Amino acid sequence: MKKLRVGVIGLGMGRGHIKGYQMHPQAEVVAIADLSTDALKKVGDEFSIPGRYTDPQKMLDKEGLDVVSVVTPNKFHKPLTLAAFKAGCHVLCEKPMAMNAKEAREMLAASRRMRKRLMINFSYRFTEQAWALKKEVDQGILGDVYFGRTVWHRRRGVPKMGGWFGQKALAGGGPLIDLGVHRLDLALWLMGYPKPEWVMGGVYDPIASSIAKASGLKYDVEDLASAFIRFKNGATLVVEASWASNTKENETMETTLCGTRAGLTHRNIGGKYEYEAEIYMERNGAQYDMKLHPPVPAAKPSMYNLIDAIVNKTPHIATGEEGVLVMELLDAIYLSAASGKPVKIK
Ligand SMILES: NC(=O)c1ccc[n+]([C@@H]2O[C@H](COP(=O)([O-])OP(=O)(O)OC[C@H]3O[C@@H](n4cnc5c(N)ncnc54)[C@H](O)[C@@H]3O)[C@@H](O)[C@H]2O)c1
Repeated sequence: MKKLRVGVIGLGMGRGHIKGYQMHPQAEVVAIADLSTDALKKVGDEFSIPGRYTDPQKMLDKEGLDVVSVVTPNKFHKPLTLAAFKAGCHVLCEKPMAMNAKEAREMLAASRRMRKRLMINFSYRFTEQAWALKKEVDQGILGDVYFGRTVWHRRRGVPKMGGWFGQKALAGGGPLIDLGVHRLDLALWLMGYPKPEWVMGGVYDPIASSIAKASGLKYDVEDLASAFIRFKNGATLVVEASWASNTKENETMETTLCGTRAGLTHRNIGGKYEYEAEIYMERNGAQYDMKLHPPVPAAKPSMYNLIDAIVNKTPHIATGEEGVLVMELLDAIYLSAASGKPVKIK
C-alpha cells in the first residue's frame, strides 16, 4: 500500500494537522517546515518526523511530497500554497484561505491550472454534531432555510496579544477573519452555500486596541464585527464575531438556522470546545426538541477526509470555491463597515 507523502508548514496549529494525517493509514508525514528551529526540534521529535526545514521551499524541492498543509500566519497562505502547487502537491490550507478574495481567487485559479486539490480547513464542520446535523439537513428536515444567526463571541480572548493575529498586515483582519470565518462557513455549509447578494457590516475596536496600547503592543484590527447578509433566494443571515466584548460568557459559539419545517442549533457547551446539536419542530400541534446524544456518527478531521478523497478519487469537501466565496463575503463586510453602505456581491 503506497502511502502519500505529506509535509506540514507552520507548527502551531500544524501539530493538529500532523495528528489528523497520522490517523489515516495511507498518509505519512515525512517532513515539516517552520522558521523556528526550536519548533522543528520539538514537533519533529514528538512525532518522529525525519525531514525538518527552516525554508519551506527547500522542503518542497527535496521531499517529493504529495500533500502539503499550509498552517502559517495568514499572510503566507497564498505564496506557500502557490509554491506547493508548483511542486506538484495537493494543498490543505488553513482558514482564512487568504488575506482577501483577490488572493483567494489566485489560489483557486492555480489549483485548477495545476489540477491539484485545494481544501480549506473549515474545521468546525468536522465535529460529530455538525456532521450529524448536515446529514439531517441534506435529507430535507429543515425545509427551506430563510433565516440564520451564526456567532462566535469572546468576552476577553485576543489570541497571543501583540502577535501576528492582531496585525492587519499579517492577518488581514481581526476576529471576523479569524473566528467569524468558521461560523460563517458552518452556516453556509448547512444552508447549502446559497448565492449571496447584499452585505451590510460594521466593525469596532473599543476594547482590545486600548488594552494593547496601554501595554505598548501592536494591534490594528477590529475586536468585534457584525454583519447582515441577504442571499439571492431571499434568505438572510446575521454574522457576529468578537475577541473582546462586554458580554456574560467567556466564549460563545452558536449557529441557529430557521427553516420552513424545522430549525436547528449547533453551539458550544459551558464556554468550552465541546458542542451540542438540536433540531426544533412542530408536529400535530406540539413543539418538539430533538437533541443529539452520544454516541454520534464519528467525524474524522479534515486531514483524514482529504487523504481519503485523494486515495478514493472522490471529491473532497471544504473546497477552494467555498473558500473564495467566504473571502468575498468577508471582504464585503469590511468594505461595508468602512464605507457605511451596503455592498453588492457580483
Ligand atoms: N482551523 C482551526 O481551528 C485553527 C486553529 C488555530 C489556528 N488556525 C489557523 O492556522 C494558522 C496558523 O495559526 P497558529 O495559531 O498555528 O499560529 P502560531 O503563531 O501559533 O504558529 C504559526 C507557526 O508558523 C511559523 N511560521 C511563520 N511564518 C512562517 C513561514 N513563512 N514559513 C514557515 N513557518 C512560518 C511560526 O514560526 C509558527 O511556529 C492561521 O492561519 C490560523 O488562522 C486554524
